[in-house]
Parts: sequence; C-alpha cells; structure tokens
Amino acid sequence: MTEPFYVTTPIYYVNARPHLGHAYTTIAADVIKRFYTMITTETFFLTGTDEHGDKIMRAARAEGLSPRAYVDKISDLFRQLWPQLNISNDYFIRTTDPKHIAVVEKVLQKIYDKGDIYFSEYEGKYCFGCERFYTEKELVDGKCPDHQTEPEVIRESNYFFKMSKYQQWWTDYINRHPDVIRPERYRNEVLAFLREPLEDLCISRPKSRIKWGITLPFDQDYVTYVWFDALINYVSALGYPDGGLFKKFWPVAQHIVAKDILKPHGIYWPIMLKAAGIPIYRHLNVHGYWNVDNSKMSKSLGNVIEPLQLKNVYGLDAFRYFLTRDMVFGLDASFNEEALVNRINSDLANDLGNLFSRVLTMAHKYFQSTVPAIDSNIEEELSLGLSQDAIQTIDAFAANMEVFAFHKALQAVWEFINRLNKYIDVTAPWVLAKNKSSRKQLEVVIYNLLEGLRVISGLIYPVMPDTAASMQKHLGLDGKDEFYKMEKLKAWKSLLPGTRLPKTIALFPRVEMPEMGEANQGERNKPGLNPPLGKEITIDQFTAVDLRVATVIKAEPIPRAKKLLKLEIDMGEGRHRTIVSGIAASHSPADLIGKQVIVVANLKPAKLMGVLSEGMLLAAGDGKQTTVAVLDKKTAPGTKVS
Ligand code: ME8
Ligand code: MG
Repeated sequence: MTEPFYVTTPIYYVNARPHLGHAYTTIAADVIKRFYTMITTETFFLTGTDEHGDKIMRAARAEGLSPRAYVDKISDLFRQLWPQLNISNDYFIRTTDPKHIAVVEKVLQKIYDKGDIYFSEYEGKYCFGCERFYTEKELVDGKCPDHQTEPEVIRESNYFFKMSKYQQWWTDYINRHPDVIRPERYRNEVLAFLREPLEDLCISRPKSRIKWGITLPFDQDYVTYVWFDALINYVSALGYPDGGLFKKFWPVAQHIVAKDILKPHGIYWPIMLKAAGIPIYRHLNVHGYWNVDNSKMSKSLGNVIEPLQLKNVYGLDAFRYFLTRDMVFGLDASFNEEALVNRINSDLANDLGNLFSRVLTMAHKYFQSTVPAIDSNIEEELSLGLSQDAIQTIDAFAANMEVFAFHKALQAVWEFINRLNKYIDVTAPWVLAKNKSSRKQLEVVIYNLLEGLRVISGLIYPVMPDTAASMQKHLGLDGKDEFYKMEKLKAWKSLLPGTRLPKTIALFPRVEMPEMGEANQGERNKPGLNPPLGKEITIDQFTAVDLRVATVIKAEPIPRAKKLLKLEIDMGEGRHRTIVSGIAASHSPADLIGKQVIVVANLKPAKLMGVLSEGMLLAAGDGKQTTVAVLDKKTAPGTKVS
C-alpha cells in the first residue's frame, strides 16, 4: 500500500487577474498530482484564493466595489480558469470561507494560550504595498525593494508572534531533514536567513487602519495579518483539527510556491505549525520565476501573458508541455512564443506525432487495423532490448517526477520516443512487409512499437492528459484509468492481439509563427502583405504566362486523392482539356460545372495522382478555404486574360 499524496499551490491574491505565473504553479501542481494518481490511490490537490488585507481592500475601492463583491468576482476568475486548463484540484479554498475563518481563530487562540503571542508597542518602517514592517537592512536605498517607495514610520501597539523562540529548533530541523525545502538553493537561502537573529512577527493590524480581515479571537480591536491568516488555509481546507482528510493528508503535505514567497513558507509557516503543535509539512517545493522575453512580467510593461490566449492558439496540452518542459524547476525561465512554437514542432509534431502516426498507419495497413499477434520464439532477437528500455524509462521518469525535475522526466520519455523512431528505421517494417516469409517478424516489430506507444501514453498523462487519452483510445484501450497506473504501464505485452484499432488521427499538427527565424524578424512588425510581396517581375515575364477563359464541362473527385478534383474544361480549342485542381476541400463538383474560370493554359503538363493535368486553375486561399476565380460575365472560351 502506497502513501497518500497531498499537494497545494499558493492561494492567489485576488487583486489581479490570473496570468502565466499562476498558471504555471497550478499546472505544476496538477502534473505532480496526476503523477501520484499513477502510483497511489488517494491524492488531494488544493488551490484557492487569498482574499483579506489592505491590498485587496484598496483594489476593491479602485473598482468601486465592496470588498465582498470584489473578492467574489476575482476569486471566480481563478475558479473558472482552472477547469479550462484541465486542473484537477479536489478543493478550492477561499480565506473568506467561514470554515477557514473558524480554523484561523482556533490556531491563534491555541498559540496565544500557549504564551507565544504577546502585545507590545512597536515603531517601525511600514510599507503599505507589502503590508509589513521593514528592517533597515531589508530596505534598498531606504526604499521598499518591491515597491520602490519610502516606507512610512508608524508607531502602533500590536500583537507579536515569538518566532525567535523557535529559530534554533527550525535550523536544526532543516539540518536533520535537508530535503524539507527543495531544491537545495532555496534550503540554503532559508538557512542563510536563519543565520541572522529572527525578529518576532507582527501578526495583527488595528481595525482603525484595516478592517478587511479576521478579527483576533482575543482582541476585537484587531484583525489578523494576512499572511498569518493565509498560510492556515493548507490545514483549514482539510478540516483541521478533526477532519478525516486532515488525518490522512496532512502527514504527506507538499507545498509548491515560487521564490517570491519563500520566507513566509520557509520560516513563518513551519514555526506557526510548531507553535500550534501541528507536524511540519513534508516538502516545500520552490520554483523560479517566468519572465517574458527576458523581462519581468508586469502590467506596466504590457507583457502579461494570459494563459487562455495561448491555450486557444496552440492547444492546451502543447501549452502544458511547454511550461513543464522548458522550466527547470527551481530556476527562472523566459517565456517566448517562438520557443513555444519550436517545442511544439520538434517535440510534439515531429518526434511524438510522427512516431504515433507511422506506427498506427502501419498497423492499419499491414494488420487490417488490429493489434498483431506476437510469436515468442522470435520475439527476443527482434525486440532489441526495447522492453528493458521501456522499464528503465519508466523508472527514470518516476525518479525525476518525485523530486519535481519535470524537465528531466520528460527528457527521459523523449529519449524513449527517439529510441522507438530508430527502432523503426533499423527494423524497416516496410521491407518486412514486402515478403510473406517475414510476416512473423513484421508482427513482432509492429507489436513492440504499439507497446512502446502504450508506455508513452501513460508517461505523458500527467502533463498532457487529453493527448494521453487520445493515444490510448487509438491503441484500442478503452479509456479506463487503470491504464495509467504505473504497475500496468510496466507490464510489457499488455496489449491484446486482435484488439481493433480505431481510425487514426494526427496528434499534433505543426504550428507556425507567421514570421519564423532570424531572417524575417525585421519584416515582423511591418504592415503589409502576408505572405510578403514576391520578387518584382517585368511585363515580359508576366505575358509569358498565357491565361485563358475556360468553361467547366465536367468535374469529379479523384479516388484516394481527398484534396483534388478532376475537371474537364472547354477553352474553345476544338477539344476538351483535363486539369487537376486542389480545391476538393472547399468545392464539390456541382459547384463548378458550367462556371467560367481562368486557366494557366501554357503550363507544362504534369501527372497528379495518375491524372495528366494540362493547365492550372486560378484560385485564392490556403487549400481549406479556397475560392475559385470566376468571370462575372459570360465570355467566349479561350479569350485571353491580361
Ligand atoms: O503571494 N513566475 O499570492 P500571489 C512564476 N497570496 N510563478 C509566478 C509568477 C511568475 N512570474 N508570478 C506569480 C501570494 N507566480 C499570496 C500567497 S499562500 C498561503 C499566499 C505564482 O497572487 C507563484 O506561485 O502574489 C507565486 O508564488 C504566486 O504566484 C504568488 O501569487
Ligand atoms: Mg505576489
């Protein structure tokens, strides 16, 4: 029996719309949760919104809404977004939920009763943007490093939490459990904070100043500092202290946050837990920041990336794949649309997409759309160690996923994809197919390839759940969750010979940036034609093209050529010509019969799908949405067009 698994994202402030950064953390949490569903039966994934505090109150005022109406509105934006990114959270917590508020009160009272919260007067430099006091050392040129404003000196009586009392305990704990904060660079950062004396944390705000918060259970004139309130969501969502969820999932808790909120999660939170007598989380997983084209993402730069926009253009799974593949968890990464397009084309369309379509096309063609049998007498010599490679890939994938090294986990999968592509080249099934005597060999090769695809479909499930399901469907698996279980994945030869394979599809069509590559960068922002204007020609070059009016006499499809129509045309030359045109996707034969069109009459004849075409029809468009150029008045066939 494997342990349960519990993962959380930060609860996001409702003072801004969700952007790429929020999407990344939440997708990362979804990826790890889905990974754990492959190895354990019980998982819990929490996300939500952080709704109290001065910052939120001011954002509400700026929109002319009451805090309540405002937080409802923005919280909903987050809640509505997640299903569209295939986020499988089990609960969505809001810090304005009465149940959460009750737990915050309970924890405060517990720590207060224990004597770890005291009342004191304090004078200090306060940044209203950050809603906290700054020490001189933390300021940069006397200004808040985040807001670049000078903090105001305020003098207030407040409640303080004795963090200093636990400084040594927490330092020792980290040293005894070094991977409690990971990756290592962030553990070191926390240990560096802890080398300096830790100040007690001011955990209240007088209501005379801020009202939008949770009232302290032991003093009605104060509300709770937002961070003290927010961090508690991780246990309140589980029904602390008595809920069954709390008992089951808290002991295996893992948080995911970005480096911006390392200090509250790496210092305040474990100390709050200790003071409240709650065990410490198992891992704090910290990732870096997404920048955009190497600059910080910000409203003022106008480069805030909207996750849905990318999903709509490139597809959800491609977007999820790019984010998980291109960020090294723990380091910063730079978002760039061209990098996204390149990833899609090389990893998804080329490597994975081609493998999938090559293998399935062969299975359909050589084995009448069924999984072939596999003869164990010749299996070994023809398998070339593929099954061992599959197991190794699964193990490498799992080991990297467990430590959040998503990019390495995916690298391992792609090595296996390339291994399979090479296996095709080496075994050359199309050669085996030519000869009846190598039928058994062909069966083994195609069976192995289908098995390889089955393993891949499971391994990509956490990152690309829709694609995984589609792959499994096309491998004849019936879409049950069990096919994603690690145990099942590892069982080589689980595809049943004789299983029917549904008609295949293209997994990832190639995508294009309108302007790819260095050469076109300069053109990119110029207004003008798309594609760009062709090279200049002379009038002689133009008149060399003999354009004529022709009447369409007959039109019919060409068997096995979905895009082409065969036309019989009259150009007034005493005989009819045949021309082939790529307009079948946009036109049926009936659309064309009787129409007068323009034909390039002196084009060198060419055979298309076995039909000799003696000319070319003028048409506009890209093959899908094509319009044929027709004449607006009846004209004698053969008339020159110029
Ligand atoms: O800090 N790159 O909420 P928040 C990567 N309410 N991740 C990013 C990012 C970026 N450029 N920008 C934001 C808060 N994030 C508190 C948390 S938890 C008890 C309270 C992600 O809305 C990342 O996860 O400012 C970061 O830690 C979080 O959003 C901050 O969200
Ligand atoms: Mg923030």
